[in-house]
Amino acid sequence: MKTVSKIALAGIALAFTAGASFAATTAENWENSCASCHGVDGKAQTKQGKKLKVRDYTDPKVQAAMKDDAMLTAILDGVKENGKERMKGYKGELSEQECKDLVAFIRQLKP
Ligand code: HEC
Repeated sequence: MKTVSKIALAGIALAFTAGASFAATTAENWENSCASCHGVDGKAQTKQGKKLKVRDYTDPKVQAAMKDDAMLTAILDGVKENGKERMKGYKGELSEQECKDLVAFIRQLKP
């Protein structure tokens, strides 16, 4: 009886840990892969963000101008302008689901 409840408890603890690490992952991905240009807060007030003139994603007007599917394509395939790469694609590093989660993450950025 004792062993069974211990196993059940371990299972619950594991489920919680997995849930917590999943929730942290999108923010972690953002910080690790995106924040150097886009800023942790999405305002792009970083050295690279300013240099590349990255838009402020907390600006409601910028948010309104972006489309979810175009955002996803940008994250997966990168952003090019006149044949020059402005942002690389993350297809090889992040799964499509992780990229979708990043779109949702950007959508909830607030000024
Ligand atoms: C080397 C700098 C750099 C890094 C790193 C970077 N980006 Fe970008 N990103 C840009 C630039 C430059 C643009 C185009 C200008 C703009 O949107 O303001 C852009 C555009 C975007 C767009 C807008 C696409 C659209 O619909 O207009 C999204 C969404 C985006 N990035 C998400 C991300 C995510 C998520 C990551 C991390 C996985 C990331 N970026 C990493 C530089 C970067």
